[in-house]
Amino acid sequence: MTHYRRVGDVPRKRHTLFRHDGSVAFEELMGTEGFSGPSSLLYHRRSPSALVRIEEPASVPVCWHENQPLRPHHLRTGDLPAPVASDPVTGRRPLLGNDDVEIAWVAAETASPLYRDATGDEVVYVQDGAAVLESVFGALPVGTGDYVVIPASTTHRWRVDAPVEMYVISARGHVRLPERYLNALGQLKEGAPFSERDQRGPDPEPLLVDEEDVPVLVRTRDGRSVHVHATHPFDVVGWDGYLYPWAMSIHDFEPIVGRIHQPPPVHQTFAGPNLVVCSFVPRLYDFDPDAVKVPYHHANVDSDEVLMYSAGNFMSRAGSGIGPGSISLHPPGFVHGPQPGSRERSVDETRTEELAVMIDTFRPLALSAEALQVSDPAYPFSWSR
Ligand SMILES: [Fe+2]
Repeated sequence: MTHYRRVGDVPRKRHTLFRHDGSVAFEELMGTEGFSGPSSLLYHRRSPSALVRIEEPASVPVCWHENQPLRPHHLRTGDLPAPVASDPVTGRRPLLGNDDVEIAWVAAETASPLYRDATGDEVVYVQDGAAVLESVFGALPVGTGDYVVIPASTTHRWRVDAPVEMYVISARGHVRLPERYLNALGQLKEGAPFSERDQRGPDPEPLLVDEEDVPVLVRTRDGRSVHVHATHPFDVVGWDGYLYPWAMSIHDFEPIVGRIHQPPPVHQTFAGPNLVVCSFVPRLYDFDPDAVKVPYHHANVDSDEVLMYSAGNFMSRAGSGIGPGSISLHPPGFVHGPQPGSRERSVDETRTEELAVMIDTFRPLALSAEALQVSDPAYPFSWSR
């Protein structure tokens, strides 16, 4: 998020003695890119560094497989084994990954442990359900269709209000808004497909919890650790700055349409390290009488293309087995396009109700063993039917 926000009590001047409720608060700068990127200042009741133990969590390493022999995939998330008392963090099933990003699916109904992803920002798309992202910055309620952006190293947990399905993009680096949407001061320009009014930050009240010996699961490049804090990290009486979790509904993304087919960059929503995220939302189709309203065949020469079909009808892939909850992977080296017959069928259509999230990665993605288990073996040949 690129605008200033202030919650709770903060001292008038930065880096000055701040007495709160009779004791001196502990100031923490949470800053990106050294001390030069977006940052926030948080004021804790207790030291955020006070650990009492460091533990190794029980975890099963993910087994990754290169996409060899090269093939497109249709991952049927509905076929993943039913989770047992799953939560939005430990219940994640990593499906696709490379050195820049891990893409996971999770179905969950219980609250998560406290969690801190030190590898980069996370973008969580809520496919279904209702939850509250609780963090050192406060509570942020989210629901079906929301993107939730969680800055790297934010200590947080998920409270689940109604069973959720989530599509989790864990980047190794920062996820930002596309530069071309922003003016020199970081304001979203006229013509961008969403505006600051569509972005929601944490509640205006601090979230305070009084507990001792509190474990936090920390994800790093090399694995996971558990840091047991002397006191609960949710002890921030005030904070201000430009860095904090935020949410935006995919339904607030305003589609850009044209007389003839518009290419995927008009759908771009986020830019990350060697990746982009795009939103395909209900919209009017191209309005030239001869317009072909489904995408032309395309060779994505420099990117792996991952589409998660969230809701609606997917005319371009009708008959391929793709449906809500499906994830397709179309790698470079394979030309993909509309399902046979869909170009002709599209002529009389005036609008699409499709809702999908696309991730293009600029380096090849590997598949987890679980992804391969739910990959439709017939999908690579679905264009031949
Ligand atoms: Fe494509």
